[in-house]
Amino acid sequence: MIYLDHAATSWPKPLEVVRAITDFLQLAGGNPGRSGHRLSVAAGRIVYEAREAVAALIGAPDPMRIVFTSNATHAINLALHGLIEPGGRVVTTGMEHNAVMRPLRFLEKRGVDVVVTPCASDGVLDMADFERAVTPGTRLVVVNHASNVVGTLSPLAEIAAVAHAAGALLLVDAAQTAGVVPIDMRAMGIDLLAFTGHKSLQGPPGTGGLALSETVDAARLKPLVQGGTGSRSESEMQPDLLPDKFESGTPNGAGIAGLGAAVRWVTGRGVEAIRRHEVALTRRLLESLSEIPGVTVYGPTDADRRVAIVSFRVAGRRVSEIGQRLDEEFDVLCRVGLHCAPAAHKTLGTFPEGTVRLAPGPLTTPEEIDAALNAVKQVAQS
Ligand SMILES: Cc1ncc(COP(=O)(O)O)c(C=O)c1O
Repeated sequence: MIYLDHAATSWPKPLEVVRAITDFLQLAGGNPGRSGHRLSVAAGRIVYEAREAVAALIGAPDPMRIVFTSNATHAINLALHGLIEPGGRVVTTGMEHNAVMRPLRFLEKRGVDVVVTPCASDGVLDMADFERAVTPGTRLVVVNHASNVVGTLSPLAEIAAVAHAAGALLLVDAAQTAGVVPIDMRAMGIDLLAFTGHKSLQGPPGTGGLALSETVDAARLKPLVQGGTGSRSESEMQPDLLPDKFESGTPNGAGIAGLGAAVRWVTGRGVEAIRRHEVALTRRLLESLSEIPGVTVYGPTDADRRVAIVSFRVAGRRVSEIGQRLDEEFDVLCRVGLHCAPAAHKTLGTFPEGTVRLAPGPLTTPEEIDAALNAVKQVAQS
């Protein structure tokens, strides 16, 4: 089987991740930060070490400013609902996932001014339009670091400069980049970064988080849920300690243990090395797919300007048929359709049919890419 659906979720997970989860459940299964006994302390240490590993990977200022959530969607919702009041202005782009668009459309109905700035048909942001949209008084700019449909990387440094000049904070949706593209929140001017554990970080589902830089006044960020945190138990009011303010309820300790192991696995291989590997595979895909008669490839033609996500269509053929034949006849697993990103497909001109998306991972081999290309060729020809 050739698994090319890492943009949906990475698979298989490193053995270290599986072991960390079972070890947590068998050896350290207390409730982290709640009781004072050894199993609770052991669990708390594992959760803290995962915070440290994530903070180091993304250049976050302080492990205590990593708020664990159940996925990137939860982290993005925390940032958007927590920061934006009715009457506030948010600027985003025409390449966003529904994890961004749906909460924004919800907020728009409650009086938030939501501005969606256009991208070109390869997914590249129009900086002139974007600059005009980010007017003084804009509260937040929210952009993906890379598109989940065509992999286009956003020019974060330029976007951060425009956002900050207008007094806005920058929220980056790093669902498709954390673990495969080097990230340094401080150097890149990222104020809030939403990440997910189960994609390029190689961790388990049910993990993710929101990293807050020191530029974010946590007192002005409202929690999505209130409840027990294990801290300040004498009070009926939500504590303002970080990360407790935003982490009510028993955390997903086993998942976070797996996430910590996953981040250490990624760090051990080196994000730069993973990136080089994925750029090479992406280049191979881009060059060969575009030579297959009838195939249209979407997104930037340069592999350096994207993550390892390649979308294509075959003239006159349904994407569902292509996906099914790749799976059933050639054991190639990919994802077809709209990828939870209708706005991006409208920008690319591929709405409502969507595309066939091939997304290799850090352990995908060039031979697997060649076998998948051969499969696409045969499906396209018959
Ligand atoms: C760009 C982007 N943002 C957000 C998400 C949501 O991630 P999660 O499923 O972890 O909530 C995804 C998942 O496909 C994504 O690709």
